[in-house]
Amino acid sequence: MNIALITGSSGLIGGESVEFFTKKFDLVIGIDNNLRSYFFGEDGSTLWNKSRLEEKYPNFKSYDIDIRNYDGLEKVFQEYGQDIKLIVHAAAQPSHDWAAKEPLTDFGVNATGTLNMLELTRLNCPDAVFIFTSTNKVYGDTPNFLPLVELEKRWEIDVNHAYYKDGIDEQMSIDQTKHSVFGASKVAADIMVQEYGKYFGIKTGVFRGGCLTGPNHSGAQLHGFLAYLMKCAISRNHYTIFGYQGKQVRDNIHSADLVNMFWHFYQNPRMGEVYNAGGGRFANCSMLEAIDWCQKISGNKMSYSYSETNRIGDHIWYISDVNKFKSHYPTWNWQYNLEDTLVEMHDRMNERMMVKDC
Ligand SMILES: NC(=O)c1ccc[n+]([C@@H]2O[C@H](COP(=O)([O-])OP(=O)(O)OC[C@H]3O[C@@H](n4cnc5c(N)ncnc54)[C@H](O)[C@@H]3O)[C@@H](O)[C@H]2O)c1
Repeated sequence: MNIALITGSSGLIGGESVEFFTKKFDLVIGIDNNLRSYFFGEDGSTLWNKSRLEEKYPNFKSYDIDIRNYDGLEKVFQEYGQDIKLIVHAAAQPSHDWAAKEPLTDFGVNATGTLNMLELTRLNCPDAVFIFTSTNKVYGDTPNFLPLVELEKRWEIDVNHAYYKDGIDEQMSIDQTKHSVFGASKVAADIMVQEYGKYFGIKTGVFRGGCLTGPNHSGAQLHGFLAYLMKCAISRNHYTIFGYQGKQVRDNIHSADLVNMFWHFYQNPRMGEVYNAGGGRFANCSMLEAIDWCQKISGNKMSYSYSETNRIGDHIWYISDVNKFKSHYPTWNWQYNLEDTLVEMHDRMNERMMVKDC
């Protein structure tokens, strides 16, 4: 039997992985304890997505286990053993701001939880491919010291800089920078995933995400910026922009395009490899541009205000260079541009909000 094991299976990336891999594997095991509702309140709950996936896919089985609970995870690993061929580890505490409230919880989930998953893989299914969703926050605030220029609606990098054409590559240092507590716990996990590849020979891949987005994100104020923005546009709730004149630029990759990267990696894996994974020059926007898009697509004028104080560790301009991944996996490419993503997000959220379970 071929099994894919997915942590954070009710969340954006885990859920998209369930949808994709139930079509490729005999069984998909999910691990998610809805800790997101503890982090972000009811707005952040992912239970609706878990129920949706369980109803839709008979070969999906979900376990309510905390990834900090080694013994609980061990039972699942021991039950399925070497039938586990793929692990997508996407469970995390994903917010900068929240991490500073409870650094021990953040580190326990992001760093120790990842080590639990790695060690159980090594002991029970060492031939499996292990995919980890890291983040561009491992580069800390180093991108903020690039030569940036202020345009009418966005920050942009100097046209003469090497990163202008395709964005920031994996050569940027992850050391000697301000990461935020969240960024630091993800660095610990990112390095450990690399190490299990390079030291133990496990087929591990680290995907350093830009903004990951898609119609099934449970957007909350502290995490899931495009989803939360669109939610505010639809519900006419107020939105607050934090710092950088609202011109901060993020690249956005649709969850399906990211999971397709995982699939390519699974079919031809490497050991301890690191990739930047984002929308790149193909799909990116500033906060002000995103507001324009949301207003246009929803047909609603948004209510928003501006606060001078930026979020600690927030990037002013970040665009991922995905050329390394493309050079290793030349048949992969993006399928969703920003407009496709936002229109899909709007339509699906609108439906969910009408039945009040979003
Ligand atoms: N969304 C983004 O913009 C973004 C950007 C860069 C990196 N990432 C990374 O990608 C991964 C997935 O992000 P996402 O947006 O899908 O997050 P998400 O919050 O939508 O999903 C994560 C899921 O993990 C679950 N979870 C959290 N802690 C858990 C625990 N201790 N035990 C079991 N389950 C737990 C949550 O309940 C949630 O359903 C994370 O590692 C995140 O750091 C996300």
